[in-house]
Formats: sequence, C-alpha cells, structure tokens
Amino acid sequence: MKKLLHIIATPRGEDSRTLKISASFLEAFIKSHPGWTTDELNLFKEKLPGLYMKQLDGKYMLSGGKELTREALVAWQGIIQHIKRFLSADAYLVSTPMWNFSIPYLLKHYLDVIVQPKYLFRYTDTGTKEGLVKNKKMIVITSSGGDYSTPEASVFDHHEPYLRTIFGFIGIKDIEFIKAQPMDMGGGIQTQKIYEAQAKAKEVASLF
Ligand SMILES: Cc1cc2nc3c(=O)[nH]c(=O)nc-3n(C[C@H](O)[C@H](O)[C@H](O)COP(=O)(O)O)c2cc1C
Repeated sequence: MKKLLHIIATPRGEDSRTLKISASFLEAFIKSHPGWTTDELNLFKEKLPGLYMKQLDGKYMLSGGKELTREALVAWQGIIQHIKRFLSADAYLVSTPMWNFSIPYLLKHYLDVIVQPKYLFRYTDTGTKEGLVKNKKMIVITSSGGDYSTPEASVFDHHEPYLRTIFGFIGIKDIEFIKAQPMDMGGGIQTQKIYEAQAKAKEVASLF
C-alpha cells in the first residue's frame, strides 16, 4: 500500500485556513487513490527530538564519512525514527502557513532533524551533492496574511523559495504549491481566496 505523509505546521487546528484547503485536498485524494493510506504528522502535537551536542556529533561523523558510533546511535534514535517515517512515504502533503516571511519554527526544526548526510543526501566521489529522496512528489498547501504574487511583494517571500531549495536539495523536485492569499488584509476577500484554493486542491489531488 502506498503512503501519503501529511506534515502539519500550524497549531490552529479547526481555525486554520491552511488546513481547510488541505482537508479538500485529502477528501479528493482519498476518493481518487483507493490504494493509499495517509500518515499525519502534526508538528505541534508530536515532540521532535532535540539537536544538542550529542546529536550534532553524529551529524559530523556522517558528514566526515564515518559511521555513527554506538553512543551516537543511541542519541540518534529519535532522528532515525523520523527519517524512516519520512522515507516510508511515497508522496508528501505539507500544510504550512507563512510565518515571518518564511516557515513556522517547528517545520524548520523538523527539517533540521531529518535532513541528514547519508540518509537524505550524500556527497559523491567528485564532491557534488546528491539528493537521495528520488521519484517522490510533494504538494505544499499554504496561506499567508499578505499577498506575495506581485514581483515587488515576491522579494519578501522566503517561504516558497526556501521549501523548494531544501526539498530540492534532498531530491524532491516535483513540488506544487497551492496558496491562499491575502488572508489578513480585510476587504472580505479571504473566504473567496480559500474557496479558490480548495477548488484547485481538489483538482490537483485527483491528478496527483
Ligand atoms: C507567528 C506568525 C507570523 C506571521 N507572519 C506572517 C508574514 O510574515 N507574512 C504574512 O503574510 N502573514 C503572516 N502571518 C499570517 C498567517 O500567515 C496567516 O494568518 C495564515 O493564514 C495562517 O494560517 P493558518 O490559519 O493555517 O494557521 C503570520 C502569522 C503568525 C501566527
């Protein structure tokens, strides 16, 4: 059975605009993909492993071409569990609002946990980097208070460029963004923008 990993990076539950759009995506996805299961990883509900000296020692062992020592393996238990969970998925849905022109801190924490040498990327003999997450698709569903669709405003958007960079780095290049914006600028436009994003999410889900 194939698996969609749904990574949730908003704490707002039923109030979340982003999750309203993701719910439409999931409803259509489940209908059109009967052979798939969904694994929900809510970053505001599940505690992520910390990255302290012992965990970072392990990272530097791997990036120096060494294997993890027994002690580092113990410190890496939580990290390895998250990496395995991430790699066990065949496709990804990321639900993340924009926070301070970028991603919420727990999504960054999650990326710092899972993006590890030898597991998600490696350096080849010629010194180039190779992403190890191959042939997997991703949908990123997002909402933001402002609207970043004009060239002038887009320079403030470090959300989409960052996510494309970090997931591209580990090998995921097939990424589609569905955005609802602006959400917090008044004018009664919010409901319409959510509705439009939900319609797009349904369309994308059935073709995914
Ligand atoms: C901590 C925080 C920081 C935010 N920073 C931005 C921002 O930089 N730019 C923006 O357009 N909206 C910003 N917003 C607004 C949210 O992106 C917007 O309300 C979004 O729809 C929230 O999504 P949610 O309802 O799914 O949680 C911020 C909201 C919060 C809570």
